[in-house]
Amino acid sequence: MSELENLESEILAAIAAASTEADLEEVRVAALGKKGSVSEQLKTLGKLSPEERREMGPAINGLKQRVGEALGARREVLQEAALNARLEAERIDVTLPLRAAPSEAGRIHPVSQVIDELTAIFADMGFSIAEGPDVETDHLNFTALNFPEDHPARDMHDTFFLHPKEDGERMLLRTHTSPVQIRTMMSQKPPIRVITPGRTYRCDSDQTHTPMFHQVEGLVIDKGSHIGHLKWVLEEFCKAFFEVDEIKMRFRPSFFPFTEPSMEVDIGCDRSGNEVKIGEGDDWLEILGCGMVHPNVIRNCGLDPDEYQGFAWGMGIDRIAMLKYGMPDLRAFFDADVRWIDHYGFRPLDLPTLFGGLSR
Ligand code: DAH
Repeated sequence: MSELENLESEILAAIAAASTEADLEEVRVAALGKKGSVSEQLKTLGKLSPEERREMGPAINGLKQRVGEALGARREVLQEAALNARLEAERIDVTLPLRAAPSEAGRIHPVSQVIDELTAIFADMGFSIAEGPDVETDHLNFTALNFPEDHPARDMHDTFFLHPKEDGERMLLRTHTSPVQIRTMMSQKPPIRVITPGRTYRCDSDQTHTPMFHQVEGLVIDKGSHIGHLKWVLEEFCKAFFEVDEIKMRFRPSFFPFTEPSMEVDIGCDRSGNEVKIGEGDDWLEILGCGMVHPNVIRNCGLDPDEYQGFAWGMGIDRIAMLKYGMPDLRAFFDADVRWIDHYGFRPLDLPTLFGGLSR
């Protein structure tokens, strides 16, 4: 085999062996680059006699051309292989279901949802939110609310007391949200319109009672508020909350130390099926306590009961949540069982509003 033929088969073998474009580029430079083996051959042409040049010229140029063609063909193959490898590696299976975003997977607890719902309703009526601490003084939880020192109503509350402080004062876990009434009247000037959702505590546990539970208190104080207003507020609330057009309500005389007169409120419902239906039927269900704020309570807050009057109510949030959403056992609210919250929880971005719908 001639020298040129040797060179050609060497270069073509190297081209065939190149497995990446970078390898191939090295082969190209080694053959056709300035100092490449084929270029060196071309340089020899100048030194040849015309006859020799007539013979070697086409032979070397032919070599150059075939090497160039082989390089081009090999480059195409390698480029296509590289593209295929990339397509394979970057393949997306569009038939796979999307993984849910965290905001889709999380759930809002029904108690939080119901607090948001009732806040939306009362805010629309012009109420603002007031809050107080869970650890309360005996004075604000009882005395200022017109519970006499040894009145039996104090015992009805199954109170959790804290260890007495050095000065002998015994703090307690508030048994109701009513102390926030006192805090609000002591710190704000009438007219007052507040609701006070929050945690409350009583030593009690069964299907409908847990030691920690939630209440919402409502308080209206100004110069002319009367029971007619109270009934309207509660009726509008119940219709909006239970998302019904009509609701039957019954006000029964009752007793609370901090209201006079005091009433308990029942709403009409139907209990004939498996679930309680609000707004229809002939059964009654108690949902809250209310009344006109007792003059002693108004006086205890430094206001003149001859000038100011108003009404208040208190309601169990967990209880109305159970009713509205058909949850049978209150204890499950606080078990932190993911399966329960997945089932009864609410989507995080569906905030309850009156215009968009409370519960959708
Ligand atoms: N604090 C009462 C309770 O826990 C509920 C209550 C009744 C609150 C009547 C009120 C009210 O504001 O007027 O049983």
